[in-house]
Amino acid sequence: MIKGFVFDLDGVITDTAKYHYAAWKQVAHDELGIDINPTVNEGLKGVSRMDSLNVILKFGGKENAYTDTEKLEYATEKNDLYKSLIKQMTPADILPGISNFLKAITKAGYPMSLASASRNAPYIIDRLGLAEYFSAIVDPATLTKGKPDPEIFEKAADLIHTPYANTVGLEDAVAGIEGIQAAGMFAVGVGKPEVLGKADLLFPDTAHLDLAKIEAAFTSQRG
Ligand code: BG6
Ligand code: MG
Repeated sequence: MIKGFVFDLDGVITDTAKYHYAAWKQVAHDELGIDINPTVNEGLKGVSRMDSLNVILKFGGKENAYTDTEKLEYATEKNDLYKSLIKQMTPADILPGISNFLKAITKAGYPMSLASASRNAPYIIDRLGLAEYFSAIVDPATLTKGKPDPEIFEKAADLIHTPYANTVGLEDAVAGIEGIQAAGMFAVGVGKPEVLGKADLLFPDTAHLDLAKIEAAFTSQRG
């Protein structure tokens, strides 16, 4: 029986993935001389700011080219750029179907919390006008490991007091699906089967999210 939901933010509730990509693309090109592409971007989804920079440096064959201080500067530059892009966000940037889906979950009485690796998550949820739906937001600064480690999803479930086996996690990233499953939760993916094939249930996009389908799949797979 489902007792609660933990949500990723970027790429599930709103399409900030495109802003993360645009900001990294610019910093990687201008500062590191590395041109990233959509395939590299898949590996940036769900992972922390510094881990994202490390993925880009590895892709460019420059993993040992910079000091920690320099890396912090590039990560900060990316975040400044990112913040300038997200400050225009409004409730119109909520992905299709999400408002109704959150309403349906609330109406059904399930608690929800946010398991986003982003330090900008509270600001974005506020800009989207969705704060009322989430009982809690995990503070990524308290984490010892990023996705695909299950820690963030476990903390998110702990905050709404739901047993992991009765918690549903929603994700658009491979690292996220792996983390949800490593926590023993039911993983709902939003995206392509080539990327998120491991999910316990997959929807092609947020407009197709359907609480009744999730409940039915959960019951048939877990009882
Ligand atoms: C995740 C994004 O939600 O947050 C990642 O999918 C991002 O791409 C990570 O790197 C950290 O975000 P921020 O806003 O703290 O830099
Ligand atoms: Mg995401």
